[in-house]
Amino acid sequence: MKDRTANASGTARREPLTIAVPKGRLHDSVRALFGECGLQFSFERRKLVAEDGTGRVRLMLVKNSDVPVYVNHGIAGLGICGDDVLYEYGFDYYRLMTLPFGSTRMCLAGRRDHNPDQDHGRLRVATKFTRFAHDFFHDRGIPVEVIRLGGSVELAPVLGLAPYIVDLVETGSTLEANDLVVTEELAQISVHLIANPAYYKFRYQQVEELLGILNGEQGAER
Ligand code: PRP
Repeated sequence: MKDRTANASGTARREPLTIAVPKGRLHDSVRALFGECGLQFSFERRKLVAEDGTGRVRLMLVKNSDVPVYVNHGIAGLGICGDDVLYEYGFDYYRLMTLPFGSTRMCLAGRRDHNPDQDHGRLRVATKFTRFAHDFFHDRGIPVEVIRLGGSVELAPVLGLAPYIVDLVETGSTLEANDLVVTEELAQISVHLIANPAYYKFRYQQVEELLGILNGEQGAER
């Protein structure tokens, strides 16, 4: 990995920091935060990679659950990622800062008319977050059967796949639309800027400079 490259005039230029950003609902908040700090990106047409005008940062738009994959493999040195996704992937990373948006709750939810007596002391849950669900209930000594789904998890109780789901609840409107209610709040989820540990050590100065900009301690202009 090269930290510096020479341009045509022979002056050294630092390679931009690479950051994997989820394409979904966090994308706009990330762009707004960076924009407020003077880091503006314009993604041409349907391109998924863009550099900011100062050449400090290169954003890569990837699927939410793939952010840790890109960071772990060093393709992106940094990433923006929620605790939910980080826990599922389970790898070594540095948490650089917690971002002021994207907080949500991981909840156990079920049908409004479900009678817990029918559970007979054993939970059957459908979820995208199988590692979290397994560990959470296992740690509490509660027998659990975890069924993995890729999305639209709220349908599972409606269609009879499982009486419960473990899923993120933000506004609660998806639960409500499917006649489901929160049975228990299991964890608070925040969104963080993370770093591949080797990348952080190698690009320490640039990363710390970026943190200073994002924390409003220094400007982005060069
Ligand atoms: C998340 C989550 C819920 C929904 C909750 O899904 O899995 O389905 O958001 O949000 P709400 O409480 O504001 O209604 P996401 O939008 O990420 O889509 P997915 O189900 O395809 O993963």
